[in-house]
Formats: sequence, structure tokens, C-alpha cells
Amino acid sequence: MKRVKAPFPRLSRGKGAFTRTRKQVTNCGTRDQAKAAAFGQTRVMRVTVLGASGRTGIHVVRLLRGRGHQVRAGLRSRRRAEEVAGLGAETVVADVTADADDLVEALAGSEVVISAIGAPDPDQASVDLVDRDGVITAIRAAEKAGVSRFVQLSAQFADAPDQGDRLVRSILMAKQISDSVLRRSSLNWTIVRPGTLTDDHPTGHVKVAGHLEPGRVSRADVAAVLVGTLEEPLTQNQGFDVIGGEIPIPSALASWS
Ligand SMILES: NC(=O)c1ccc[n+]([C@@H]2O[C@H](COP(=O)([O-])OP(=O)(O)OC[C@H]3O[C@@H](n4cnc5c(N)ncnc54)[C@H](OP(=O)(O)O)[C@@H]3O)[C@@H](O)[C@H]2O)c1
Repeated sequence: MKRVKAPFPRLSRGKGAFTRTRKQVTNCGTRDQAKAAAFGQTRVMRVTVLGASGRTGIHVVRLLRGRGHQVRAGLRSRRRAEEVAGLGAETVVADVTADADDLVEALAGSEVVISAIGAPDPDQASVDLVDRDGVITAIRAAEKAGVSRFVQLSAQFADAPDQGDRLVRSILMAKQISDSVLRRSSLNWTIVRPGTLTDDHPTGHVKVAGHLEPGRVSRADVAAVLVGTLEEPLTQNQGFDVIGGEIPIPSALASWS
């Protein structure tokens, strides 16, 4: 895999909640803990979102902050920092195609990584570089950084990629490989495989199952599913499809199998 020295400096490392000790993090955020309690969570988690500037990633950051979690927004480049400005997240450059050691450093201190990254260009080289090799680099970096949990935004049919046009096939095959590396990793994993993504408003309702008929689902609802997995133990070490549906997201996650 090509390794390039990360061209961008960290953005706000050294100033955010992630740089506090575990004790300080536990004690510091009374307001965050109140938000967490309001959602029935046991505690605030330190979560890094990869692809935080993306159309799904930004919903993930917003939802995590709304639940009181301590969030590090991983950005491919500082050029997208304004996308997450004002959401209360620490920002860090986390380019999964750049230096692997820099990525380990970017993930250090996180308990959870949620990856919402996707190749920026619609061609096989970009897909292989980001969705396959880049995600594998992120999984390995998470292991090295002592992360416990990795939640991966994959795609419906990534576990049966022999369909669609050539580009769709290459995306599904790239995801099939990185998903399989995640399943075999030492991390506690969840693989979320949504149908076609839309920018529709969130409904708070989805359909979740091991395998589903082709469908559509909004990025906002997928983000709520990704975040919801942190609160539902049944999603640990599991992969499942998600499309639009009628079941409230927490119930769908609690009864998907
Ligand atoms: N489109 C669909 O119908 C569909 C269906 C199922 C699953 N999916 C998958 O869902 C995921 C999210 O989709 P989306 O539409 O929300 O994606 P998106 O808006 O294109 O966002 C992708 C994110 O990945 C980041 N990224 C790209 N290259 C990176 C790198 N080298 N290192 C770190 N971050 C990088 C982008 O950063 P920049 O902002 O700097 O570009 C952006 O934040 C993708 O993996 C996609 O394949 C899509």
C-alpha cells in the first residue's frame, strides 16, 4: 500500500477532551453526562468518526454530540474543517491513505471508531485505495491505538458483491474485503450495510435484518443506526442490512436477528 507522509497538520489536537486523562474525561462533562443519561446510556464514550465531513459522517458527529459523547471528527483534510465547525467535536486529520502511524496517533484515546468514509472519486483505483486498503489501514490503526469497538458503514450486498455495474461491483468487492478484515480483527465490530442512500429527512424508523430486499434509506437514519449500535449490545460482532422501514431504530437494533 502506498504510504505518503500526511500533508496536513493536526487541527485541534492538544486542546480537546481527548487529551484529558480518563479520570478527567469521566469527571469533566456534567452537561455531557446529563445528555447521556437522558438517552439511557451508562456513560459518555470517546468516539472518533472517520469521514466526519461526509454526508453521513456529519450526521453521525451531530448525533453523537447530541447524546453527550466526546467526539473526535476525523477529516481527510483540513479543507473540510468548516463542515464540522460548531458541532462541539475535536477535529483531527485522519487520512486513511496517508501515513499509518499518523492514523494510529489520530485514533489514540478513542474507545470507539465509527467509519463513514467513502472513496471521493467514482473509479476503481480510488475505491480500492480508500474503501479497501484505507479502511484496512484504519482497522489496523484502531487495533494498535487500543480502540475497543469499530463500527463500519459498508453497503448492502457487500457480502454478495457479484451484482450491479462495474463500479458498483468494485465498491462492493472493496467493502467485502475490508468488512472481512474487520470481522477477523481483534476489535469488537459492527458492520452496517445500508441500501441506496438518500438525503431525505430522518424518519427515526428503519428495517434491519441479516439480509433484506434492495431498498433505500436516508443518510440521517443510517447515522442514527450507526450511533444506535453503541447503545445496543446485540449489534456487537454482527453485520446487517438496513433500509427504510417502520420500526423505531432502537427497537429495530434490539430485535434484528
Ligand atoms: N451512495 C449510496 O447509495 C451508498 C449506499 C450504501 C453505502 N454507501 C457507503 O456509505 C458511505 C458513506 O457515503 P456518503 O454518501 O455519506 O459519503 P460521502 O458524503 O462521499 O463522504 C465520504 C467521506 O469520506 C471521506 N474520505 C474520502 N477519502 C478519505 C480518506 N482517504 N481518508 C479519510 N476520509 C476520507 C470524505 O472526506 P472529504 O469530505 O474530504 O471528501 C468524506 O468525509 C460510503 O462508504 C459509501 O460507499 C453508499
